[in-house]
Amino acid sequence: MADQAFVTLATNDNYAKGAMVLGKSLQGHNTSRKLVALIGPQVSEPAREVLRNIYDEVHLVDVLDSGDTAHLALMKRPDLGVTFTKLHCWTLTHYSKCVFMDADTLVLSNVDELFDREELSAAPDPGWPDCFNSGVFVFRPSNETYEKLLQRCTEDGSFDGGDQGVLNSFFSNWATADISKHLPFIYNLSSIAIYSYLPAFKQYGSEAKVVHFLGKVKPWNYSYDPKTKSVKGHSQDPSMVHQDYLLKWWDIYSTMVVPLMKEHYGSQPFHSGVSEVDDIHHGVAHVHVSVPPPPPDISSEERKQKWEQGQADYMGMDSFDNIQRKLDSFLN
Ligand code: UDP
Ligand code: GLC
Ligand code: MN
Repeated sequence: MADQAFVTLATNDNYAKGAMVLGKSLQGHNTSRKLVALIGPQVSEPAREVLRNIYDEVHLVDVLDSGDTAHLALMKRPDLGVTFTKLHCWTLTHYSKCVFMDADTLVLSNVDELFDREELSAAPDPGWPDCFNSGVFVFRPSNETYEKLLQRCTEDGSFDGGDQGVLNSFFSNWATADISKHLPFIYNLSSIAIYSYLPAFKQYGSEAKVVHFLGKVKPWNYSYDPKTKSVKGHSQDPSMVHQDYLLKWWDIYSTMVVPLMKEHYGSQPFHSGVSEVDDIHHGVAHVHVSVPPPPPDISSEERKQKWEQGQADYMGMDSFDNIQRKLDSFLN
């Protein structure tokens, strides 16, 4: 057990907040494994201090960046080139087996049984289920694998510009070779999937063990009022469909992480730009984010065509709420 660990990554203070909440959620569910955080040089000293308080090990690593703007643009996520940094997890060779978890994941119950699985075990990606999602995966640290992965990155790049593309190309037989390497979806339930298949979520959602706030808008981008324990957000955002997980994240953040920040650094702003700790003193934690503008209006004929081509605008006009409203108005 001492040679097994949960590993995450944060290259900046925002993702560090995610890592803090993730670490607390793993501890809250009594994991018997070690906790390791990989951080980049941009993470501020106060944030490092809090991470050291939660994690058994905090390692500073070089930030690797794919610099692959073309592929990243396809995903509409120019920020994800740095996810190549994730590959450093293979260098943790003082562990025999690890589970990597994105900093935007949250554990809802004990998941130590993941260590029964072998490299490379992961859950299907909600957007392309023949690929695995690299937000949660079981791996065996090895310098040899690390070198091979880096070589793959330099020679072939990554089809999505981030780690998930290169990992899927490298572990290319994941989809077909061994079903035991397919983690059940409940170990990496992405907020996107909740939205795109709501009936399945209603049927199976209560079994979820790990929620993944996949996508542009992260829990730390919302506003939270600790007094009323409520979260305010963007109506365009799919994860608003299920606020319970967001509230869980914010509850851990405000009750277990913020006190640690205060303990180490009084009421100093946690990082430049956003004085979140200060804001919490005033009752409301406010963080501003820019969200993409709403899609341009289209005619109902165009909309119908899009529907027929399977291109419903699930995030906007054809959102579940809107469909429900329409149905309600028919029924009444
Ligand atoms: N990450 C990071 N800094 C960044 C972007 C990503 O540390 O600027 C790490 C972090 O652990 C994050 C993971 O890489 O959870 C993958 O990125 P993200 O979760 O944003 O991708 P998504 O799951 O939304 O596709
Ligand atoms: C995905 C994964 C994330 C990964 C990113 C870049 O959407 O959720 O973990 O870092 O793609 O490849
Ligand atoms: Mn993620």
